[in-house]
Amino acid sequence: MERYTLGYDASSLAFVSRRTLESHGAFFIDYLRPGMRVLDVGCGPGSITVGIASRIGDGRVIGVDISDSQVRLAEQTAADQGVANAAFQSGNAYDLPFEDAQFDALFSHALIEHLAEPVRAMREFLRVLKPGGVMSVATPDWGGFLYGPPSSDLTAAVKAFEALQVRNGGDVNVGCKLSQLAIDAGFEQVMQRAL
Ligand SMILES: C[S@@+](CC[C@H](N)C(=O)[O-])C[C@H]1O[C@@H](n2cnc3c(N)ncnc32)[C@H](O)[C@@H]1O
Repeated sequence: MERYTLGYDASSLAFVSRRTLESHGAFFIDYLRPGMRVLDVGCGPGSITVGIASRIGDGRVIGVDISDSQVRLAEQTAADQGVANAAFQSGNAYDLPFEDAQFDALFSHALIEHLAEPVRAMREFLRVLKPGGVMSVATPDWGGFLYGPPSSDLTAAVKAFEALQVRNGGDVNVGCKLSQLAIDAGFEQVMQRAL
């Protein structure tokens, strides 16, 4: 079983919607060029996707999310910001609704930690990328989280959330495994760095 742990309540959405390409996807910016066709998988409310749109000129970014509610929210985000070169649609990372070799670059932020079969998803990412295309993914590794001041309640809360995410099929320690997963999925020239 796989279930998205964070959910879509107001506090979760407020937390996710604060993100921008600059704050959470800066590692992708150097790969963006005018005219590119880009896919953002697990786009959520689209706050990062619109940043991608702003850096590809007459190119086009498509945000895909498994939740229709997020697709609608992302469409609203783009409309509110007057972004015309971003489109959103429902889709599953394991079975993307696109033909082979459609995208120059693929971005995915904070999705992989929720997936039970990350290599399967990355193989799907590879399928929709054009030959020579770039996949740029980031997701946390909870083993690297620092929080304070020391609090047994906070520690217990974090441990409980971790246990829930694992029970839901996710992997809270996947951040450090991303390069190996990409190699297993068939990507070449893999590079990993801590953010
Ligand atoms: C933590 S949010 C990240 C949103 C956005 N990428 C960001 O970082 O602001 C993860 C998103 O992935 C979506 N998601 C979960 N499982 C998915 C799947 N199998 N395929 C596509 N999207 C999925 C969720 O609906 C959620 O909107």
